[in-house]
Amino acid sequence: MDKILIRGGVPLTGTVHARGAKNAALPLMAAAILAETPCVLHNVPCLHDIFSMDKLLSFMGVRIDFTGRAMTLDTTGITEPEAPYELVRKMRASFFVLGPLVARFGRARVSLPGGCAIGTRPVDIHLKGLEALGCKIELDEGDVVAEGTLTGASFALDFPSVGATETLMMAACRAEGLTRLTNVAREPEIENLAAFLNAMGAQISGAGSDMITVVGVDSLKGAECEVIADRIEAGTFLIAGAATGGDVTVLDANAGHLAALLEKLREAGATVTASEGRVGVAAANGLKAVDISTQPYPGFPTDLQAQMMALLACADGTSVVRETVFENRFMQVAELNRMGANIELDGNTAVIRGVGHLMGAPVMASDLRASAALVIAGLMATHGETAVQRVYHIDRGYERIEERFAALGAQIERVRN
Ligand code: UD1
Repeated sequence: MDKILIRGGVPLTGTVHARGAKNAALPLMAAAILAETPCVLHNVPCLHDIFSMDKLLSFMGVRIDFTGRAMTLDTTGITEPEAPYELVRKMRASFFVLGPLVARFGRARVSLPGGCAIGTRPVDIHLKGLEALGCKIELDEGDVVAEGTLTGASFALDFPSVGATETLMMAACRAEGLTRLTNVAREPEIENLAAFLNAMGAQISGAGSDMITVVGVDSLKGAECEVIADRIEAGTFLIAGAATGGDVTVLDANAGHLAALLEKLREAGATVTASEGRVGVAAANGLKAVDISTQPYPGFPTDLQAQMMALLACADGTSVVRETVFENRFMQVAELNRMGANIELDGNTAVIRGVGHLMGAPVMASDLRASAALVIAGLMATHGETAVQRVYHIDRGYERIEERFAALGAQIERVRN
């Protein structure tokens, strides 16, 4: 198993390219199931989660060619509308195949994902929505078995769940008549998915707002789609730049998708510059405490909460961070405290009293974004060495993170244990 070694205290400077968004690419891959001729995705990131989805779709009979950053998916030979536990348990996003499978084949069997490090993460909204579209749902030996011909309906989500919005939007494309989904998620990844489905011949409007309408069609054909830039990855580089007192520009990033983060970085005293396709941050004069509450888009993303907490560990004053999206997303706190941070937890609230500096330490990655926070803390630490163990969590969502930080001047390397 690999670990990442970091000697921090170097202000990061330079430019880095944002890759395609994992959270956009995964549902786009699942959406290809709906197309009756091959699809092509561009700007697909080379990440473990993408390989997991590749494996799952290949198991079902999808022929995939992934060369460079282009992926061709030919779903004409799907034999098994099934996603078994061995493949689903590795990645919750496997559940995305349920909606398109039942919409195209009238039946699907997909293992129910379990909990994960950041909470129990139920899928009840996905299932209630599918039932509203006329699907019969049963649970059999840990699998969701869905069956039925879908019919358009009105459905209000209890919470604007990203995954449920995507599942229902995909399913509704083949439901007979009109579907109206309200209280849906507004994330940019949803707009990316809607654009792909519309290119296949779907009739979706309203993606990006809190209400989506879909007029069902009889069939969908293959289409091409460009995966949007990863706002979370871009945000991670920007936070690291500011947290180390450096000057970092992310190219190919969409500043509009990062508005909530950029506002907080400015409030903390960083200088933010944004123009077409590039976003920069500089923070030579230290940072001050800010309060953050995670929210569905366009609010502050839960996927950047841990990284921002690392930054706030050395900001001047006391910051309060509230996590409102997931119930247990403070796995980084104990590790940050081992590096000298002063963070107290009370339920879904963390109080961070800024300290003068962090010290390197051996730390354990627990989930994807918490691990990114530990890397940032390691880059901030002015004394000692940080060894981040269980790097496979980071590899799920960041392409060779150490090489890209090294290109910004960081002293960082990956070693085999
Ligand atoms: C997606 C992202 C993830 C991000 C999250 C919130 C992907 C592949 N992953 O995850 O990186 O952190 O959005 O921005 O895109 N919930 C229910 N019932 C449901 C569905 C969700 O109670 O049926 C709850 C969840 O437990 C969680 C909250 O709603 O507390 C948000 O979850 P959701 O928006 O669905 O996140 P994901 O789509 O799983």
